[in-house]
Amino acid sequence: MNVIAIDGPAASGKSSVAHLVAERLGWTFVNTGNMYRAMTWAILQRGVDPADSEGVARAAAEVSIDFDTANGQSTIRIDGRPPGPELTGDEVNKSVSIVAAVPAVRERLVASQRALAVLGPLVMEGRDIGTVVFPDAAFKFYIDASEEVRAARRRAQGHADSVGERDRLDTTRKTSPLVAAPDAIVIDSSHMTLPEVVEHVLAVLRGRGLASSSAW
Ligand code: DC
Repeated sequence: MNVIAIDGPAASGKSSVAHLVAERLGWTFVNTGNMYRAMTWAILQRGVDPADSEGVARAAAEVSIDFDTANGQSTIRIDGRPPGPELTGDEVNKSVSIVAAVPAVRERLVASQRALAVLGPLVMEGRDIGTVVFPDAAFKFYIDASEEVRAARRRAQGHADSVGERDRLDTTRKTSPLVAAPDAIVIDSSHMTLPEVVEHVLAVLRGRGLASSSAW
């Protein structure tokens, strides 16, 4: 299966790593956190309380979401529009882990994530890609970093996001909790630069015989 799964906790750097690895391979990058964020935004727009899981499940069934891939990037349209900067705003940060714990939300988004694989080879990042979405993916990575480092990275991006609280919700939820797949390569990026992590991932892929037509 042409999928590289990259999972890990909030602000571990997995999106940046996945994006750069995809660019180097000429594969399509998919950020599944943005899908959960877009769904959360649409649910909040409908005035639904994120803590009302039945209301969230009903709203999630009504939201229209279209996914596509173009130029190595996956694109989302939610209720007919591409989502804006509100995806990483405080309101979504506070609610996204609560919405993402609702099974009906996960079923809908996991189905869309699997459907993207028919469009070409993917580097997909998230929380459950190697465990649930693509358990048969040939290449799985789990990018970690200490909570202190991750909180500092988030602050440096200008966000006051409580990564510790999101981790607690993401690792303790009943459906698809955040956990490294048993066959994932775990990389602790606390003391590594982004290019170092990317090179490490590419070295593992080369070592495992992933062939590429480009000179990466
Ligand atoms: O990667 P991120 O911080 O943008 O993800 C936002 C939230 O979405 C995260 O706290 C949990 C949820 N999420 C998930 O449950 N499963 C995924 N595959 C990706 C994200």
